[in-house]
Amino acid sequence: MVDKVIQISKEAGQIIREGFGKNFGVEYKTNSANLVTDIDKKSEQTIINFIKKEFPSHTVIAEETGRHQNISDYTWVVDPLDGTTNFTHGLPIFSVSIGVLKGDEIICGVVYDVMNDVVYSAEKGSGSFKNSDKLSVSRNSNLEESVLVTGFPYDISKNPHKAIEKFVSFLKAARAIRRLGSAAIDMCYVASGVFDGFWEVYLNSWDMAAGKLIIEEAGGLVTDFSGKKIDIFSNQILASNGRVHNSMLEILKRSE
Ligand code: IPD
Ligand code: CA
Ligand code: CA
Repeated sequence: MVDKVIQISKEAGQIIREGFGKNFGVEYKTNSANLVTDIDKKSEQTIINFIKKEFPSHTVIAEETGRHQNISDYTWVVDPLDGTTNFTHGLPIFSVSIGVLKGDEIICGVVYDVMNDVVYSAEKGSGSFKNSDKLSVSRNSNLEESVLVTGFPYDISKNPHKAIEKFVSFLKAARAIRRLGSAAIDMCYVASGVFDGFWEVYLNSWDMAAGKLIIEEAGGLVTDFSGKKIDIFSNQILASNGRVHNSMLEILKRSE
């Protein structure tokens, strides 16, 4: 299964790479911050066509076209281009993210970092990988020495869930905070030990399906803001190396 998911992620990535920096159509979704391009749509259609051909009974949940219900126990959760704002503005940080569920368990996750041509992948119980190198989270247990990463929802101007206060609190508590613009890549960097932790107040299933498994298989921990295990249909996410998790929960509690 994972080989097939890698194959289609790279095919979709090729479409994205070819479109990068060229002329493409851009539309607004909910507001002028929330964009979708022709390339998001083309990538998604290519992935859906592949699933229909190779796994015709599987259900698909995809960001731009929603749910394609089917009969099997398997569901593909697809973000055809994670980092659309970066893509649109010429910043080369974006990915294809695909998670596959059996029932409600994620069994396989792939994030393709398009411009670096790097595949992050995991299968349940078999560890996670950057290309063929095994990944593990960082060993740091001190929040003051941590580099964290986050993202903001498209309605950040309304400050949902006190996202701005949370950001300011982490800014004061950690060594540094980064905002890359692709939640899937953020999570792969936690799995790789580059970042010690990641949080975001609102993510969709397609943003986190692959990244969640990749972090867990690299030895990390993924919960909500009260420390409870989450599934990919929960929205808030705190992901870390496990060692700074409690310190991060403390910060989140302060700005509830
Ligand atoms: C977005 C990115 C961003 C995160 C947003 C997501 P999109 O996904 O992952 O980093 O902060 O919450 O919606 O719209 O580029 O697929
Ligand atoms: Ca996304
Ligand atoms: Ca997207």
